[in-house]
Amino acid sequence: MTVDYRHRFQIPKGPDGGENVYLCGHSLGLQPKSVRAYIEQELKQWELLGVDGHFHGNHPWVQYNKLLIGQTARLVGATPLEVVNMNSLTVNLHLMMVSFYRPTARRHRIVIEEHAFPSDQYAVKSQIRFHGYDPAESLVAVAGEDELEELLDREGESIALIMMGGVNYSSGRAFEMARVTRAGHAHGCLIGFDLAHAAGNLVLKLHEWDADFAEWCTYKYLNGGPGSIAGCFVHERHARDETLPRFAGWWGHELETRFRMGPDFMPTPGAEGWQVSNPPVVALAALRASMDMFDEAGMERLRAKSVALTAYLESLLDRHAERGFSILTPRDPARRGAQLSIRVPVPVRGVWERLAAAGVICDWREPDILRVAPAPLYNTADDIDRFVDCFVRSL
Ligand SMILES: Cc1ncc(COP(=O)(O)O)c(C=O)c1O
Repeated sequence: MTVDYRHRFQIPKGPDGGENVYLCGHSLGLQPKSVRAYIEQELKQWELLGVDGHFHGNHPWVQYNKLLIGQTARLVGATPLEVVNMNSLTVNLHLMMVSFYRPTARRHRIVIEEHAFPSDQYAVKSQIRFHGYDPAESLVAVAGEDELEELLDREGESIALIMMGGVNYSSGRAFEMARVTRAGHAHGCLIGFDLAHAAGNLVLKLHEWDADFAEWCTYKYLNGGPGSIAGCFVHERHARDETLPRFAGWWGHELETRFRMGPDFMPTPGAEGWQVSNPPVVALAALRASMDMFDEAGMERLRAKSVALTAYLESLLDRHAERGFSILTPRDPARRGAQLSIRVPVPVRGVWERLAAAGVICDWREPDILRVAPAPLYNTADDIDRFVDCFVRSL
């Protein structure tokens, strides 16, 4: 486990002044110490230049977004043309569905994963209704890849869009995105992924896997801060397709002529053409601090450490199997990310409260699931020892 960036993060302290065991990077990642300097740089620019900061200074804001494109592309296995940081995750999901969910009487269904995150379910159902269809007929949930392939073989012609998570928020199960994409494309479907729990967690190859689009938040493993700016991927085969419907705004207009203020929308080629509004630069600065660190560490190295840490957590938990809890997350490291979801035999809220009182931070989801994720940038084997000790006692 050679990647150690722990000293570059603010680790929250408990009541006794000691560092908490923070295993909640699947919910909100910790603050990189460098964030303050990145933000202060833009505050200074604002202080000194006012409106001129848009076009002058070290990083003119009008192109600030460009400073993150390279790191973002490398993080998700994309070309620079294919990525952009904008809005929030669910907003991007809607923008993508405006372009890539175009139902017809024959092909109007959307496939999602079973137990998809509620926001995805709401977004998908509202898009189905928006087009005049009924979610009871047009929405299908599948347990996994096998069931998806069977469904496609049987009823593929009725499916317009497959919109699955990269890693399910509740079980921690990772889906085989290349396989999902291959199967869907073979039946004429478009494919999108919600990578909220996969970005900064798994090694992603969105371009090679051939997904049509993807979106992710950056406040979990990516440590962009609460409510931080989200990411979005659009495959380059769609980069210049002006027949795609989209909800346009001036920031998606090509930069060269954007400020001529003409009446007709000329999209920037690629994912940047889906931008709507000018982005919050201070939020982008915070995200940049974290993305620079990911780029430096490299996702392959982080993933190698992550696999080892999660396997260590699993092996310690297995020693206490007689306590009646079970691990819901797949045992195969290739089928999961950092997170283990543990089904507990006693009220989960109480377990979580007792852990928190001992300075161990994780979270829980209804009805009985404790979610724990060692984040390879800042968690250590020692965190895992302390967690397992407190967890067993908290039962
Ligand atoms: C899988 C998944 N999708 C969507 C969301 C919603 O994200 P946002 O509030 O950024 O739209 C979350 C938030 O945790 C999530 O985990």
